[in-house]
Amino acid sequence: KKVVLAYSGGLDTSVILKWLQTTYNCEVVTFTADLGQGEELEPARKKAEMLGIKEIFIEDLREEFVRDYVFPMFRMNALYEGQYLLGTSIARPLIAKKQIEIARQVGADAVAHGATGKGNDQVRFELSYYGLEPEITVIAPWREWDLTSRTKLLEFAELNQIPVPKDKRGEAPFSVDANLLHSSSEGKVLEDPAEEAPEYVYQRTIPPEEAPDTPTYITIDFEKGDPVAIDGVKMSPATLLTKLNELGKANGIGRLDLVENRFVGMKSRGVYETPGGTILYAAHRGIESIALDREAAHLKDSLMPRYAELVYYGFWFTPEREMIQVLADKSQEFVTGQVRVKLYKGSATVVGRTSPYSLYDQDLVTFEEGAVAYDHRDAQGFIKLNALRLRSLKKRERR
Ligand code: ARG
Ligand code: SIN
Repeated sequence: KKVVLAYSGGLDTSVILKWLQTTYNCEVVTFTADLGQGEELEPARKKAEMLGIKEIFIEDLREEFVRDYVFPMFRMNALYEGQYLLGTSIARPLIAKKQIEIARQVGADAVAHGATGKGNDQVRFELSYYGLEPEITVIAPWREWDLTSRTKLLEFAELNQIPVPKDKRGEAPFSVDANLLHSSSEGKVLEDPAEEAPEYVYQRTIPPEEAPDTPTYITIDFEKGDPVAIDGVKMSPATLLTKLNELGKANGIGRLDLVENRFVGMKSRGVYETPGGTILYAAHRGIESIALDREAAHLKDSLMPRYAELVYYGFWFTPEREMIQVLADKSQEFVTGQVRVKLYKGSATVVGRTSPYSLYDQDLVTFEEGAVAYDHRDAQGFIKLNALRLRSLKKRERR
């Protein structure tokens, strides 16, 4: 037996690693991805070597993550339950896909992850595994082992010579997941939704009230729905998102305190920071506002909650997600142009937009005497025909 483990190098996945070796007696291959979580990867390699791992895979996935996952999702303006920009959800399919590729490469018959048995992440990982490799064996240690308390976990670590960093001896004050798009904090001190999250929970934004008193203006260039430049400087997808994160951080943008519905049935409270993504979301809607036809925009918007649900639930590699994606991508054909955004104390406001394909016609909309294309008298018949049913309905009510 050989298993590919999604390995962060942290205490929990190190314990999982050892547990797989001892309980399943299988050979463990580790996979560690740089998704922009802001942690060094070399320590993970060192630790894996120390734990006797022979096949260690470490990959920088930042460009692929932003180009093939984040940007396609932003073309759809996806928000789960109206607010969550899906920063954790969108990363899972990519990690799963790489694990499966590595499993094929090294001839492994199983994959393992470190998500708990109560959350969304187990579902996202495993739906992706099965969708890509139907006969794969999935091992989810958190659902199987008896290391159910922190004490037992630490005992196991001690017993197996897994180094426990000093700050990991006590209970972590909350659980974190981070990548280039966002950081998410859940559990422990955040569990009571009636209590405001303490300031120390926030890690990639300054408090809006401490942000500069003068606004920062930026322009973002879009091509076919994707951002390609900031202030005229072309950048790769990951570089661009990194830059937006810096701008967002400095202006206190992208904080969200949310109670959401998990796929597995319970409600959970999370604190999210999505600085760059929040700016991008606003800017993308800004460019769409002039470049998209009304009915195209409305149709796309009507499918957005469904798409967001698919991403949140973990159905990325499915025909239904791909079908909506084709629709979204098609809609972006003319979503090219420039958006000017004002960043100020926690908000990202679109203040200007231009596009070579703009459908906005000043001559048509002006309050001044204008276009010949629009005859006011046409509006009278338009309203009358639309009112026909309404008048019939009211008359019936009076009968
Ligand atoms: N609730 C978020 C989601 O389901 C984040 C989950 C992972 N976050 C964490 N702090 N462990 O997408
Ligand atoms: C976890 O349970 O591993 C994190 C939370 C989630 O997946 O929803």
